[in-house]
Amino acid sequence: MQTPIWITNFKNYEQAVNENAVSLAMAHEKVWKDTDKNIAIAVNALDLQSIASMVHIPVGAQHVDPIGYGSKTGQIHPEVVKNSHARFTLLNHSECRFNDDKKLQLAVEKCRAIGLTSIVCAESPAEIKKFAAFKPDFLGYEPPELIGSSDVSVASKPECITESLKFCGDIPLIVGAGITRVEDVKISLELGAKGFLVASAITKSDDPEGTLRDFVAVM
Ligand code: G3P
Repeated sequence: MQTPIWITNFKNYEQAVNENAVSLAMAHEKVWKDTDKNIAIAVNALDLQSIASMVHIPVGAQHVDPIGYGSKTGQIHPEVVKNSHARFTLLNHSECRFNDDKKLQLAVEKCRAIGLTSIVCAESPAEIKKFAAFKPDFLGYEPPELIGSSDVSVASKPECITESLKFCGDIPLIVGAGITRVEDVKISLELGAKGFLVASAITKSDDPEGTLRDFVAVM
């Protein structure tokens, strides 16, 4: 996936699952067609296959488990995700943590082996440093206390973005949490971020398409 990239994480917001996921995905597709900006969406596992067959923008999973085929009830199998035409997956999002670095590392390795782009999320620069060693395709910095905030964003922590960048080497850094203003995007880009992970500003907007358009215009 090319940078700078905008990724809307649909999470499990009511406005972004089932039939609402379809209209939201189509709005993203439309903005991509009109602007040619790099736009992707991370959708609920149950919506993934149908959405991926409807749009051309990259569609990804919000999580996969480090498993192979077999007796693994209820887990999300990376190859099944890949075969459903997902292009990427988030790993270790604050709302879906592995709590075991070895499992996270294994998940990154499984994604690499099957050609599924991995985006490993971290809650601090120290975690970015640790997870960079796993060599994911992207690293994502999201301060957990700012996720869902409507007035303070990751851009209010420039020192953490700069610190994280020091540990990324050639892995692109994506940032997220509380991004609700175009200014948040501008500041983060100036600091060196190569993309954005955003949920509520888009999923809860009265005009998701217009809001997305305003954000990506500055990318
Ligand atoms: O993965 C994106 C996310 O956790 C940020 O959420 O609602 O603060 O944009 P939000």
